[in-house]
Order: sequence, then C-alpha cells, then structure tokens
Amino acid sequence: MDHPKPARPRLVLCRGQYCNISSRSDHLYEYLQTLVEDAVGDQRPRPIKLEIANCLDHCGIAPVLILYPSSEIFGELTEDQLEDIVNKAMKAAVPQSDSGAGQ
Ligand code: FES
Repeated sequence: MDHPKPARPRLVLCRGQYCNISSRSDHLYEYLQTLVEDAVGDQRPRPIKLEIANCLDHCGIAPVLILYPSSEIFGELTEDQLEDIVNKAMKAAVPQSDSGAGQ
C-alpha cells in the first residue's frame, strides 16, 4: 500500500523590500544557512529546505519567516529565534528515504 510521503519541512524567509530594510533579512539568511547546515550535517537528501521569498504578504510584521507545511508564521524575526525555528523544522522532518511507515 502506498502512503504519500510527508512533506519536507521548508523554512521560507522573506527578503522582500520591507523585510530586508537595512539588509536585515540578508543577515538573518546568512545565520539561518549556518544553522541549517549544522542541523542537517551530511544527511542527503536534506531533511529540511531553506528558501527565499520576495514577499509573504505579512509586511506589517517584517521580517517574516514561514515554516511549512504547518504554515507557522514568525514575525519581527530576530537571530535569537532562528535556532528554535530550525530545531522545530528538524523535529517535523521525516527521513526522506523512509517509506512513511512507523515513527
Ligand atoms: S516584504 Fe516580507 S512580507 Fe512583504
């Protein structure tokens, strides 16, 4: 019996015009990349994905990151929040080579 593979968690960081005022999203992205690399290590395929968006339609709480597939929104983002967000994504990750059964 085939089960759909659970969606891989995605961290989508906005680098749109409001989120990236004074390059703050650029700095968040650099730190986020480091945290994701540390968390993922040499796991391939990577259990979580880091993506960039141009605007996530939440400019009023910029800078913004959304964690999918839960669609949890993190606004007024600071570096201090990023480690917890990456840990949350890793907990939601299912090994991609897994058939989806068990655990
Ligand atoms: S510019 Fe980031 S949510 Fe709109």
